[in-house]
Amino acid sequence: MTETMWAVTIAEDKSLTIGTAEKPTCGPRDVLVKVETAALNRADLIQIMGLYPPPPGASNILGLECAGTIAAIGHEVSDWAVGDRVCGLIPGGGYAEFALVDQGSLFAIPDEMSFEQAGALPEALMTVWINLFDRCKLAMNESLLIHGGTSGIGTMAIQMARHAGIKDIMATAGSAEKCAFTETLGANLAINYKTDDFEKLVSDRGGADVILDMVGGDYVQKNIAIAKIEGRICNIAYMQGHKVELNLMPIMLKRLTITGSTLRARPDADKEIIRDAIIRDFWPAIIAGSIKPVIDSVYAFEDAEAAHARMSAGGHIGKILLSNNAA
Ligand SMILES: NC(=O)c1ccc[n+]([C@@H]2O[C@H](COP(=O)([O-])OP(=O)(O)OC[C@H]3O[C@@H](n4cnc5c(N)ncnc54)[C@H](OP(=O)(O)O)[C@@H]3O)[C@@H](O)[C@H]2O)c1
Repeated sequence: MTETMWAVTIAEDKSLTIGTAEKPTCGPRDVLVKVETAALNRADLIQIMGLYPPPPGASNILGLECAGTIAAIGHEVSDWAVGDRVCGLIPGGGYAEFALVDQGSLFAIPDEMSFEQAGALPEALMTVWINLFDRCKLAMNESLLIHGGTSGIGTMAIQMARHAGIKDIMATAGSAEKCAFTETLGANLAINYKTDDFEKLVSDRGGADVILDMVGGDYVQKNIAIAKIEGRICNIAYMQGHKVELNLMPIMLKRLTITGSTLRARPDADKEIIRDAIIRDFWPAIIAGSIKPVIDSVYAFEDAEAAHARMSAGGHIGKILLSNNAA
């Protein structure tokens, strides 16, 4: 007989409510996590609009990361045991009582860390690592510009760059309060993109070696303009549009690299490589507390709709979570 569980479901009018879904069962490499927290990602908002469907084989329930306790393991799983406290990256399914996570996408939660903190980590850590350190080869003594400095991704990117020894970290954000917050994380130049011209301010400092962008639109040409010789520009989203008219000449003249990536559809084997690199290079700093997830707010799963409204409105700083233990 098919077992069921509770899950946040999308109603016909696109509102979010608690419903029931089939409880997943483990494939050979799967770990079944009894979910305590799941963090929101902007991709969840886009999925509701029908624009970012789950990859083939993934759960169609929202939620790209979760934290909880292992309830069952597949027969090929050797690194994990029932009862372990874990957090992990998933291609879908986090907004539910149980979620399946590939064994290579899991992190062990340190004893002193809460499920709220742990649930906010996997997507940001893995996205930042793959784009800044793998694709863009960000190196010490280079300068970095991070757009969306107070996003879930931006708050983690600033801290990981600081931990990696990057001295010149510039960030854009949409208010004075948000700019000040990026400085507390380690940005040494915070630019309010609503009142100041980031292209001019970064250019006045000599440009940036690496630019992490999620805005797109007219930022694409501006990023090209302020990238230094041999600079790398990486897009992880195009919130202001992915079709633009460009002058490509500076790419040739400055020997620029323009790249980008998505994490969700990558094979599990790739995600395991990324996870292992993070455990090697950044997990000690997570355990020591020198890199911390920035948590904006925590909602009950029943209040997923309100949590999504907060992300849509854009007032948040850091991650928004759903939790079984929200106050
Ligand atoms: N490709 C991938 O693998 C991948 C993985 C994870 C996330 N992402 C993408 O990365 C982005 C951040 O994700 P998230 O979940 O952390 O979302 P989020 O917290 O909602 O962040 C969105 C950010 O965009 C910023 N923003 C909007 N317009 C801007 C502009 N004109 N200039 C500068 N910043 C602007 C917002 O800044 P203000 O609030 O200051 O306006 C906000 O910080 C999303 O677009 C998401 O889809 C991609």
